[in-house]
Amino acid sequence: MNFSSFFSKVQETPWYGAFLNPVINEIENPGKLLDIGTGSGKLIQILTTEYGIDCVGVDTSQEMLDEATKKLRHIKTELIKIVPNQKLPFGNGSFDYITICSVLFHLKEEDIDRMIKDSRRLLKKGGKIIVLTPTGGGNFIKLTRYFPSIKNRSIYIWYLATKKRAKAWTKTKYLRQYAKENKLQYKSEIVMNGFAQLEVVV
Ligand SMILES: C[S@@+](CC[C@H](N)C(=O)[O-])C[C@H]1O[C@@H](n2cnc3c(N)ncnc32)[C@H](O)[C@@H]1O
Repeated sequence: MNFSSFFSKVQETPWYGAFLNPVINEIENPGKLLDIGTGSGKLIQILTTEYGIDCVGVDTSQEMLDEATKKLRHIKTELIKIVPNQKLPFGNGSFDYITICSVLFHLKEEDIDRMIKDSRRLLKKGGKIIVLTPTGGGNFIKLTRYFPSIKNRSIYIWYLATKKRAKAWTKTKYLRQYAKENKLQYKSEIVMNGFAQLEVVV
């Protein structure tokens, strides 16, 4: 099994639903949504089928998009392969929501800035950018307490694989600072029993 199909299976676990839920709760009204770094497409699958949101997913990895295509079979969504660090192929003001889940904390500073700047270009007036990132906080005891099911065993791999970068992202408060410097509205919330952070830029 390659990484993309493993990741696609992870996205079907209860803990992954708990991870994505805070993002879903931020989508208050129908509208057009762009998911940057959509991976194997779980977020847009839920938003399209359960909430009737009009979704587009983009990713730099063809393998991930192939998995997303399988997951989204028979579902009306658009998936597009993009080139890293280039302007996305959409017109200004195309989207009400832009979601970026588990992506920014892997990128270099200049690439984060480029992605946020382009996201702002793509956003309609009054739209919002929703960013979800693991915090790297907590420990195995808490993971077991909050996510006890055997179906959640992949959460330990996720926790160990993301912990270092996640902690750095949480500590530097990069997006809060970016929003301040660019005079944007910003809010953040610790979610998923302390294991993830939701940030919203308007
Ligand atoms: C950890 S996965 C997250 C997938 C999905 N957003 C989720 O939360 O389940 C990160 C994804 O970001 C993609 N990615 C990495 N750099 C990217 C970039 N510069 N632009 C768009 N996608 C990127 C990767 O190919 C991968 O599919």
